[in-house]
Amino acid sequence: MKKTVLVSGGAGFIGSHVTVELTNAGYDVVIADNFSNCDMTNYKGVCQILGKELPLIKMDFCDAAATDKLFTDYKIDAVIHFAAFKAVGESVAEPIKYYKNNLDSFLNVLEAARTHGGCNVLFSSSATVYGETDVLPVTEQSPRQPATSPYGNTKQMCEDILRDTVKAFPQIKGIALRYFNPIGAHPSALIGELPNGVPNNLVPFITQTAIGKRECLSIFGNDYPTPDGTCQRDYIDIVDLAKAHVCAVTRMIDGKMDESYEIFNVGTGRPVSVLELVNAFEKVNGLKLNYKFTPRRPGDVTAIWADPTRANEVLGWKAERTVEETLAAAWAWEKAIAK
Ligand code: UFG
Repeated sequence: MKKTVLVSGGAGFIGSHVTVELTNAGYDVVIADNFSNCDMTNYKGVCQILGKELPLIKMDFCDAAATDKLFTDYKIDAVIHFAAFKAVGESVAEPIKYYKNNLDSFLNVLEAARTHGGCNVLFSSSATVYGETDVLPVTEQSPRQPATSPYGNTKQMCEDILRDTVKAFPQIKGIALRYFNPIGAHPSALIGELPNGVPNNLVPFITQTAIGKRECLSIFGNDYPTPDGTCQRDYIDIVDLAKAHVCAVTRMIDGKMDESYEIFNVGTGRPVSVLELVNAFEKVNGLKLNYKFTPRRPGDVTAIWADPTRANEVLGWKAERTVEETLAAAWAWEKAIAK
């Protein structure tokens, strides 16, 4: 019998790509989203890619009764929890809003999972939990540093909540996937990232500059102790990232977990500097980008990249796309939404 996966925040950037890969892998997907930070574009794109309508519930996971009702209406074998606020800077200015939303929604999911006989829970975590570290690449055993923003703190707190919950309630199993920097778009150019206002993240800023929506890309700092002076990150293709979720969900549903709570880095293991990324974007897409060096952005770590060995060996997942392929997809998406 087909298994059902609930994707909270399924109309967003990562959720929509995960929905496509889960469906392609044979899962029934139920999407739930409050559309607080997205519109119907990605949902429509998902349906177009898959050639069918998927169940879509407009709801807020901070609403405990609505969350509980979802678990009554559907027999959910696994839930992937994306629904959360994600702007680092805003979280510093609006900590209560961030803690309330990101913690309440996850607690409601766990409470519903517990009272409905248990569930497999996949939490969308972040490499931000590692903070600034001298020992690179980071493994899952690398120590977490104190979070530098309320947003980062909600990721750490939700990981801990999940760990404690599976310990207390054996009917709940949990996996936290720690994403490095997800970029790119689906090769169909039907789904992708739709930042609200001025993008905080590098790749949407690059594509918006290339298309003329922004005048000039600021490269934040070229005096870092890295080979070219700009920060290094582990940029992971969004479709590769989505596939890691399929592996993790299948591991949980098939009862293959070694422990009831597991953590995996989802990255390529390949450091890429801001300048290298800009150069690769220009080269693969045959254009010149207007950019300048500006002072460092407060809060940025110098360099971080993953040791993805555990995900490679235990999940049987590996990042496949090159950074050039990913940047070509990001550009195709930017052009598609400009039409
Ligand atoms: N950068 C620029 N110019 C820009 C935007 C970014 O030079 O206009 C640089 C940043 O300084 C950084 C790199 O590009 O060196 C990547 O920046 P992003 O904002 O794209 O990504 P971050 O590594 O800062 O963000 C990631 C995740 C967040 C997470 C954060 C925690 O995307 O979800 O780490 O620090 F919260």
